[in-house]
Parts: sequence; structure tokens; C-alpha cells
Amino acid sequence: MNLNDKKVLITGGSSGIGRAIVDALYQSGTRSFAVAGRDEAKLNQLAKDYPEASFLYLHGNVGNPTDVMAFIKKVDQEWAGLDILINNAGVVSAGPLEDISDEDIIAQIDINLTGLILLTKHALPLLKKSTEAAIINVSSGLGVIGLPFYATYAAAKAGTVNFSEALRRELRDFPIHVMTVYPTATDTPMMKTANTSNMDTPEAVAESTIRGLLAGEIDVFRGGTQMLENRKLNFEHPLEYDEKVKGMYWAMKERASKHRSM
Ligand SMILES: NC(=O)c1ccc[n+]([C@@H]2O[C@H](COP(=O)([O-])OP(=O)(O)OC[C@H]3O[C@@H](n4cnc5c(N)ncnc54)[C@H](OP(=O)(O)O)[C@@H]3O)[C@@H](O)[C@H]2O)c1
Repeated sequence: MNLNDKKVLITGGSSGIGRAIVDALYQSGTRSFAVAGRDEAKLNQLAKDYPEASFLYLHGNVGNPTDVMAFIKKVDQEWAGLDILINNAGVVSAGPLEDISDEDIIAQIDINLTGLILLTKHALPLLKKSTEAAIINVSSGLGVIGLPFYATYAAAKAGTVNFSEALRRELRDFPIHVMTVYPTATDTPMMKTANTSNMDTPEAVAESTIRGLLAGEIDVFRGGTQMLENRKLNFEHPLEYDEKVKGMYWAMKERASKHRSM
């Protein structure tokens, strides 16, 4: 895939992993970005930091269907097409399930999953005009291994995984590649309240994402061999993995109790 001439719509491209993906694409020659986000100031900063690129700012909430339709309308009006959709925007509200507000539960599903599906649905007519298109969905390691105190987040991220897989098969007759990215703990604003160390960098996640896209990968996992072993154990022997999780239960409870980025 040649990234130079591509028109890219990315949600959450103003911060963290999304911002690093914008940077990596820019370094690869991409110059046309549509970036969705709620904070206008963060969006406006992009044009200052990348003066040679052109930005469409899609100001709004990806969890709100009206905003999603407005994003697509703007992209259609300005570009009349789209090559790459990157569903990256995400939020988290962790802790014991009974302690999480109903509002946070609903918003995690709306933003992390329903909004992603709606945006993809309405972007498809634009993507189908492209001769070389891609949809990149940012899930999480928690989308394949459910961990305590992240049940709602994990549900949304697991939903993203199967959505990607089903859509990839549905779109077999179109030149639209579908890829899922599984970051592990990554040092971004989302993790400020998580009290975690030894995190991945957003630049490394972005670099793997672009490499995976260019190589036609369908899944891009972060976390190295440890993650691979964990996935295998959890898939083949989930009860053994339960035992492993018991050892980190209290540390995870402590860590999750303040982890909120909504
Ligand atoms: N960091 C990690 O450890 C980690 C691990 C696994 C997976 N992930 C996933 O990676 C993705 C990026 O996360 P990050 O760590 O880079 O987080 P981040 O730094 O907090 O960035 C999240 C981005 O999403 C945007 N966003 C959030 N809610 C939105 C909404 N309702 N509508 C539109 N835009 C919205 C934010 O912009 P506004 O606030 O301006 O709306 C921001 O640009 C997420 O899907 C996350 O779940 C992260």
C-alpha cells in the first residue's frame, strides 16, 4: 500500500496512540487527515504541528450517532471518498462492576464499540470508492484476555475483535483490508490514573500498526512473547489462566480502582 496519496479518517488522532499513528503516517508521506475528537483545542494543535498536512476536524463524540453522521457528511463533502478508516478513539472506566456508574458503562460501550460500528457502517460507501482501502480497529489485549475490574471495557474491546473478523470476511469482494490492533498498557493520557509502570510507548504501537498495514497483517499484537504465551494459555486452558490471575488480583483491584479516562 502506498500511503502518500491516502485520505485517512482517524478517531482520537489528537492524543496518545492515535496521535502517534498520525505522526507515523505523516512520516510515511500521508498528508490528508480527518481527525475526530471532542476537545477542539487538541484538534487545532494538529495543523500547527504538521503544517504540510491538511486536516479536516471532526469535532464531536463518536459515541453519538448524530455526530457520527456529521463526521461522514463532512468527509463526503470535502473528499467524496476515503481510503483508510482508523477506529482508535477509546475511553475506560475500571473497578469492581458494581462500583462503576451506569453512565460510564453505557458510554464505554457507546464510544468503544457502537460508535466504532456506526462510523464504519457509514464510512463504507466512501471506502468502497477507493481502489486500495483499509479499516484499522484499535482493540486491546483485554479484548482477547478478560481481566478483573475491566469487564465492560473488555466486553467492548472483545466486540471490536469479532466485529473486525466478521467484517473482513464480509468485505472479501472489495479491496478493503481489515486489521485489528491489540495494544497492551501504553503510556498515554488514558493511563494517567492507572498507576502502572513498564508501559509500551505510543510510538511503538504506531510503528507496529503501520508495519502491519503495509504487510497486510490482519492482527497486530503488542506485548511480545509474553502476550503470545498468555493468549495461548488463556485460549487452551482458561482455568489455568484463572490461577495466574489470582496472583495479581489485589494489585489489579488497587490499580483499577482509580483508573478512569472518559
Ligand atoms: N493506553 C493503553 O494502555 C491502551 C491499551 C490498550 C488499548 N488502548 C486503546 O487505544 C486507543 C487509544 O487510546 P489512548 O491510550 O491513546 O488514549 P488517549 O490518549 O486518552 O486518547 C484517546 C483519544 O480518543 C479521543 N476520544 C475519546 N473519546 C472520544 C469520543 N467520545 N469521541 C471522539 N473522540 C474521542 C480523545 O479525544 P477527546 O478527548 O478530545 O475526545 C483522544 O484523542 C483506545 O481505543 C484505547 O482503548 C489503549
